[in-house]
Amino acid sequence: MNFNVEELIKKAIIAKSNSYSPYSNFKVGCAILLKDNNYILGCNVENKSYGLTICAERNALFKMVSEGYKKEDVIALAITSSGDALCTPCGACREVMDELLKKDTLIVLANDKLEYKIVKNNELLPLAFKLEK
Ligand code: THU
Repeated sequence: MNFNVEELIKKAIIAKSNSYSPYSNFKVGCAILLKDNNYILGCNVENKSYGLTICAERNALFKMVSEGYKKEDVIALAITSSGDALCTPCGACREVMDELLKKDTLIVLANDKLEYKIVKNNELLPLAFKLEK
């Protein structure tokens, strides 16, 4: 592995500290490590109209695109959440990850104890939706 996984997880923990989650009290943080050594951070942002909530992963990925980065610029993405469980992305985020990251991009499922499991992006959504006729 050609990157510092603990540093990446610590960035996701920092991202999580900005979580706006007064309804679920469940904080999620996401950090994307880029080849230029920059990080893109995202947290979940909830809304009183619950369905308008944006997940940490999609927040970070949309920021990445907005800043002009592409899937080829990404080394790895890490996710952390409240509690000791290794955070796994929801189905909607997996579709966006399938769209905006390479199949072999490393996804770090982590917790605050710096315990983690690494999977490849395409392991998370093997039968992703395809716009093929
Ligand atoms: N959440 C995320 O940020 N990422 C996920 O992959 C799943 C869920 C957020 C949404 C909501 O603010 C809170 O976690 C509880 O569902």
